[in-house]
Amino acid sequence: MKVVTVVGARPQFIKAAVVSHELRKRHQEILVHTGQHYDYNMSEQFFEELEIPTPDYNLGISGGTHAQMTGKMMIGIEEVLMKEQPDWLLVYGDTNSTLAAALAAAKLHIPVCHVEAGARVHNRTNPEELNRICTDHISTLLLASTLSGYEEMAYEGLQDRGVVVGDPMYDAFLEYSSKLSIQNITLKLLAGGEAKVPPVFYYLTCHREENTREDKDLLEIFKATEMLDAPTIYPVHPRNKARALRLQEAYQFGKILLTEPVGYLESACLVKNAKKIVTDSGGLQREAFFAGKKCVTILDFVCWPETMVSGRNELSSPNAEEIIKKLEHEQFVDDTYQPFGDGHSAVKIVEAMEQHYGGGK
Ligand code: UD1
Ligand code: UDP
Repeated sequence: MKVVTVVGARPQFIKAAVVSHELRKRHQEILVHTGQHYDYNMSEQFFEELEIPTPDYNLGISGGTHAQMTGKMMIGIEEVLMKEQPDWLLVYGDTNSTLAAALAAAKLHIPVCHVEAGARVHNRTNPEELNRICTDHISTLLLASTLSGYEEMAYEGLQDRGVVVGDPMYDAFLEYSSKLSIQNITLKLLAGGEAKVPPVFYYLTCHREENTREDKDLLEIFKATEMLDAPTIYPVHPRNKARALRLQEAYQFGKILLTEPVGYLESACLVKNAKKIVTDSGGLQREAFFAGKKCVTILDFVCWPETMVSGRNELSSPNAEEIIKKLEHEQFVDDTYQPFGDGHSAVKIVEAMEQHYGGGK
């Protein structure tokens, strides 16, 4: 099979790392980077650390409004697809890069394989939800990471094209999360200088459009960190850099370590060693679950229902008192409960594409 894979954002590099290695054992892969994430520590560092093959094309498209970004990407991806004439287009998740690639391919009658299909938050103001719904409806093969994703497909008449393969984020976590030891991590502080990881710490990430429209949400999250019994490490997504620095300076928050984004090996190691986790990231919620760490998610919708059991992951509004209250709730971890597969989803993804090869044209 000849497969064109399109990636563009940090979570997609992680998933592509494990799938690409498996795919290339038997098939030809052409890797396209849209350019959506472009800073060294948001992109190239992941390719280096996870040994992802160098992209065959980098379209250099980033920023702008959703429509500007998606539209420009469609034009660039269409050119690549017309030239390469692949048997499959392979896409991951729910970013603008995912939707642009799927739409360009579907219009050229190239079968689309969507990894992380069926995930729904049931909130259409969430930009990723629109990307997920549209991508699933124009895809040929819908690969769900969990049973709940597969069940969601039934409500939209999609299940006959769906297969449960497990979560490649789980494969990646198993493969990469023990590569570094915490003592060897040096944090690059956003304001300049470096710091070692404190012996006890909380891990925070926050980048969603829902929490970054105004100052007040991040301000509440920072206030919560002041009320905790240990420092909080927050690798700041570029979307929030200026705001995070400004708020820390204005309010002199002393317990939060604002750092540059970290690579995946560092992030996974921080997850494993953190006391507890506060996030709005879809990936980090699952990684907290993989590591058995208590997680509080600052969103008003559920991304991964499988994690919302036994106090393991709880939603909170961006309110300092509520965040602290939820963090204090006990969790119960049952190691036999493994809803994200067996760590071999990359093999199952490639097998599913082989089995459905030719069927979608
Ligand atoms: C995107 C995804 C989101 C995902 C996140 C992963 C969409 C709609 N959103 O959000 O689902 O959770 O990636 O991290 O696709 N920027 C930089 N340097 C970079 C990357 C971004 O400075 O390397 C800045 C740009 O100014 C850009 C802003 O961050 O305008 C937001 O980036 P964008 O790719 O639009 O969205 P994310 O918030 O990263
Ligand atoms: N991540 C990382 N460095 C960071 C912050 C996050 O490597 O500084 C990893 C994190 O471990 C997770 C992935 O990036 O696996 C998820 O990406 P992100 O949170 O940006 O997007 P989402 O999952 O919300 O789409």
